[in-house]
Amino acid sequence: MDSVQHQDHKSTKDIHDKNNSNGVVDGMIITEDLTKTATTVHDEHADGDSIEKITYKGWVAVDDQALEGKGNLVYKEYALKPWDEDDVEIKVLYCGICGTDVMALAGDEEPLQPDTICGHEIIGQVIKVGNNIENNLTVGDHVGVGWQSDCCRECHECKTENEQACLKSTVAFNSTYHRGKATNAPSKGGFAKYWRGPSNFATPIPSGLDLDIAGPLMCGGVTIYSPLERFKIGLGKKVGIVGVGGLGHMGIQFAKAMGAEVTAISRTESKKEDAIKLGADKYVATGDDLKKAFGEYTRYFDLVICAANPSNFPLADYIPILKVEGIFCFIGLIPNPVEVPIFPLIGSNAMIAGSAIGSPSVMTRMLNFAKEHNIKPWIQKYSMDDINKALISFKKGEPRYRYVLVNTDQGGEL
Ligand SMILES: NC(=O)c1ccc[n+]([C@@H]2O[C@H](COP(=O)([O-])OP(=O)(O)OC[C@H]3O[C@@H](n4cnc5c(N)ncnc54)[C@H](OP(=O)(O)O)[C@@H]3O)[C@@H](O)[C@H]2O)c1
Ligand SMILES: [Zn+2]
Ligand SMILES: [Zn+2]
Repeated sequence: MDSVQHQDHKSTKDIHDKNNSNGVVDGMIITEDLTKTATTVHDEHADGDSIEKITYKGWVAVDDQALEGKGNLVYKEYALKPWDEDDVEIKVLYCGICGTDVMALAGDEEPLQPDTICGHEIIGQVIKVGNNIENNLTVGDHVGVGWQSDCCRECHECKTENEQACLKSTVAFNSTYHRGKATNAPSKGGFAKYWRGPSNFATPIPSGLDLDIAGPLMCGGVTIYSPLERFKIGLGKKVGIVGVGGLGHMGIQFAKAMGAEVTAISRTESKKEDAIKLGADKYVATGDDLKKAFGEYTRYFDLVICAANPSNFPLADYIPILKVEGIFCFIGLIPNPVEVPIFPLIGSNAMIAGSAIGSPSVMTRMLNFAKEHNIKPWIQKYSMDDINKALISFKKGEPRYRYVLVNTDQGGEL
């Protein structure tokens, strides 16, 4: 039974205090922090229960060229997925902006579904839990949600903690659910006041990790952490990170904390000082002449991760900098096919890899690692009301190094 009841004007603190008198209806924990933006209306549910319901509003992409020339996300009402009993619902405190949001909104990816809500570095507070959730979340918990929203639970990948590779994945936006009452319903991201989805993809934020900086870890962070973990980066390894952007600047911190010698590889000298502050041991400004720039790095790196996303990528110039059995791993979404020169690849027994986000278990390990090693994305905050300004600035390459949108009326702090 999908029933929920609201208690007016509970403060964030009240909700966070689990000993507080949040009621329970049929196993559903009652919540609500009624905010200025979430108006309530009276509604009749299919099962006849009379409930109060939130009007869900968010920043909707009204077309699939939303960033061409000007930002044009519009704040309006939209429909969340139908409620399933393994869902949680959260109020969104913070949402980072990832390069993938910007590429999608600029029309660089598939055409967007109608009423797309992007945003997939979500930090929120649980306000409602289903009767059949897959983890121990309760109302008041702080959670993070990244790019993936659901998976099939049945395939080999889902059963071996590789959920991010499930062929029936649902992702944050421009995607549909394949299970339960939400089958065929579109997914919705976090540029909004609320998010609802399967509990398995809402990861608890370890206490002690600041909530605002945790947002960028949910996509950018886990995406760059995952290959570092998979390729067993540690003491004595040499890692190159291509692109000192959102993902790249977190990658420098993670790789350094794992004990590697880290080289930041950027297009210009402009980010050198920052890269060194982030923990880079070395810095290469490639300019236009990569052969010259890489002169002293022949057979140098155990692992090079490309977190950049130029339209075309000159992989041929990067193969010589890999050690024998070195790995070149793509995580940046380079739109055009990349040419692979086979002779040098064979000559170095080198490997080319790709990597996508991270499974829920990698997410948990990454968050704990970040907390333990004091890894903090460098963020600049915008009120979520200023989302269009933030997106345009991101598109120009201005973040140093991640923008985080804040819903102050939901409890986020600017
Ligand atoms: N694989 C996954 O699962 C996954 C997950 C999240 C994001 N992504 C992708 O990862 C890429 C990076 O995302 P991000 O959020 O880190 O973006 P970002 O903050 O914009 O960083 C991208 C960096 O790429 C470098 N770059 C090189 N050539 C560029 C060009 N022509 N235009 C713009 N930047 C260029 C820049 O670094 P320098 O100035 O240092 O050269 C820039 O800072 C995006 O393609 C995103 O879609 C993939
Ligand atoms: Zn699966
Ligand atoms: Zn992302």
